[in-house]
Amino acid sequence: MRPLRFYVNVDHVATIREARRTDEPDPLLAAREAEDHGADGITIHLREDRRHIHDHDAVAIAAGVRTVCNLELGISEEIVAIACQLKPFQVTLVPERREEITTEGGLDLFHDTPRLARAIERLRAAGCRVSVFIDPDTASIAGAADLGVPAIELHTGRYSLSWQAGTEALAQLREAARQAVHLGLAVHAGHGLTYRNVQPVAGIPEIEELNIGHSIISRAVFTGIGPAVGEMKRLLTEARR
Ligand code: PXP
Repeated sequence: MRPLRFYVNVDHVATIREARRTDEPDPLLAAREAEDHGADGITIHLREDRRHIHDHDAVAIAAGVRTVCNLELGISEEIVAIACQLKPFQVTLVPERREEITTEGGLDLFHDTPRLARAIERLRAAGCRVSVFIDPDTASIAGAADLGVPAIELHTGRYSLSWQAGTEALAQLREAARQAVHLGLAVHAGHGLTYRNVQPVAGIPEIEELNIGHSIISRAVFTGIGPAVGEMKRLLTEARR
């Protein structure tokens, strides 16, 4: 089985800070704490509306993590330019709509593909490993392979909303992961994963990276970041045995 990397998304530490537009809690300190307790990487989403992570956070985290930084972003010129300057280890391209509460669906690889391809090329030229966040369907996976990216992140949102009702969404993720590896893509996954639903996804052998945020920060309100990250790490290790 491929080893599973566990990336902790610290966006919602910044969400709490932005509730008061002050300087605490600091997402970089949260990232360090997460790294001390088993995170293999730190994920942040620099949104166009800067609703949580701000530019100074991205600068501090890209430079200050001891593991690696995975920067999520939409393909706006402005944000791509910032990423090219920061040169995080990895960039994950996501769709972005200002009205949404969170990233709602996977990236549409067939809408304005030339613009997407240009963004990928700029990021690749800046030295970033580029991944695209897509729905677990055959067309999107084939589209990602055609774009020449090394990795995809499968959107687990449908699974996270339906896992208690049946296994169809899990089967779809399994099949998508198999197809992607067959096409030479590295497979990541994330969105809506929690302490209760993560293990079946972590057990999919083709998946090599999970990105998890909201559930960990929610638990951290009660336990602190360290124990919250440590418990998720324990579940992932157990699922992978
Ligand atoms: N992966 C991607 C591409 C995302 O946009 C998000 C949310 O920022 C996540 C993973 C993490 O989702 P959650 O916060 O629900 O764990």
